[in-house]
Amino acid sequence: TRNGIDFAVADLSLHEFGRKEIRLAEHEMPGLMAFRREYSGVYPLKGARISGSLHMTIQTAVLIETLVDLGAEVRWASCNIFSTQDHAAAAVVVGPHGTEEEPKGVACFAWKGETLPEYWWTAEQMLTWPDGKGPNMILDDGGDATLLVHKGVQYEAAGVVPSAEADDPEEWQIVLETLRNSLAADGKKWTNIAEGIRGVTEETTTGVMRLYQLAAAGDLLFPAINVNDAVTKSKFDNRYGIRHSLIDGINRGTDVLMGGKVAVVCGYGDVGKGSAESLRGQGARVIVTEIDPICALQAAMDGYQVARLETVLPIADIVITTTGNKDVVTVEHMSQMKHQAILGNVGHFDNELDMAGLQRYPGIRKNNIKPQVDEWIFPTGRTIIVLSEGRLMNLGNATGHPSFVMSNSFSNQVIAQIELFTKFKEYDNEVYRLPKVLDEKVARIHLEALGGELTKLTKDQAEYIDVDVEGPFKADHYRY
Ligand code: NAI
Repeated sequence: TRNGIDFAVADLSLHEFGRKEIRLAEHEMPGLMAFRREYSGVYPLKGARISGSLHMTIQTAVLIETLVDLGAEVRWASCNIFSTQDHAAAAVVVGPHGTEEEPKGVACFAWKGETLPEYWWTAEQMLTWPDGKGPNMILDDGGDATLLVHKGVQYEAAGVVPSAEADDPEEWQIVLETLRNSLAADGKKWTNIAEGIRGVTEETTTGVMRLYQLAAAGDLLFPAINVNDAVTKSKFDNRYGIRHSLIDGINRGTDVLMGGKVAVVCGYGDVGKGSAESLRGQGARVIVTEIDPICALQAAMDGYQVARLETVLPIADIVITTTGNKDVVTVEHMSQMKHQAILGNVGHFDNELDMAGLQRYPGIRKNNIKPQVDEWIFPTGRTIIVLSEGRLMNLGNATGHPSFVMSNSFSNQVIAQIELFTKFKEYDNEVYRLPKVLDEKVARIHLEALGGELTKLTKDQAEYIDVDVEGPFKADHYRY
């Protein structure tokens, strides 16, 4: 704690570099800056205490400072052990008007290269407010903050935290340990926190899936807004964002020439579509794997070969998973890959790749090349290169999606935070999406910033296609 601000970052002296990049990013984030202007002097988030769990990057710094500008108090942690940009974390702690000696920014607990116990410690710090009040809003990416609160409440009601099962992942044992310690210290900690929460806004596909599961079981403790399925989020960030940051991660991690190589993309949803396009743009020959015939057919129509992983492993130079599913690349697959083939995941969690199985493989050895790049040596002498230990490699090996596309996503986050903070009484404990007019508003701001000229409907035309002249221009079932 310094000047009343709690923090745990790698190096506070990096704040000046962070501030310079934040200043450049602000110009590239017209949506967030438009909200700062629109709500200038209004403070719609006055009284909001937002606990945020989202990659602590330069773009997120602009989001955080927008939330503060709108009146919120904020505590932050990253949602991934490798995704923090240390200069961004330092800059949000110091704030635009503070100094290293006298920081005036926000509480932040994030550094690049956290261990898993450290990661869950930062998550708990982010949710634990100093005055014992607790947050009244959560901003989540992947659902870990929401999970901690929900599991905490569940185990406090039971009065006991269960032991992990033998086949549970190592990380789950750490979560249980975290909750066991808090239960011992304060038997109502998470129950009290949950009672104060007005709602959560969730950033990504995987977190949204977890929310719908909670809601379906009747276990969701507060209302949620699914930000991911705003059109200006998933059809832009997931797709055009990864088109930029996937190859950035491969380049920074390996500097391998992609042209002429065979790249397999597992999954052809929004992230898969952007990934395939990204690799094709480098001249790679791209092959797609899918379980869903509709997405598989889309891949085929887009000109990609559709195949099973087993069939194409012998020729694959690069394998990238984008499914949000688990066990997509098993250790058996890995053992059959080409010498020095590159394996990376951009789905939210590392369980898309069987990293646990790889570590247990008889006779396997690991040779660290540099941070977030490991060569795994099979007993045959063949090696594979695994990026970011199987975690989001576009953030671990590079710096994630660029500012302009994140401005779309984070504009939806800001709208969702204001909506739930100010109107929580109108919402049940269900998962909601933002209205289409707001989606169109976000798109309009970013189109204008790019110099795009929108055609205006005449009243007659609007009546003919049965929409309002001012929008929304599509029915809710339209798929874009
Ligand atoms: P999506 O649901 O649109 O796409 C996933 C696709 O994978 C689906 O088409 C599904 O049929 C397919 N799939 C599922 N199991 C499969 C399997 N075993 N083999 C082959 N294909 C399979 O989801 P979206 O939005 O593309 O997100 C995917 C993941 O990426 C999620 O975990 C999401 O949270 C994450 N994400 C990561 C970002 C990043 O910066 N790295 C950005 C946005 C999302």
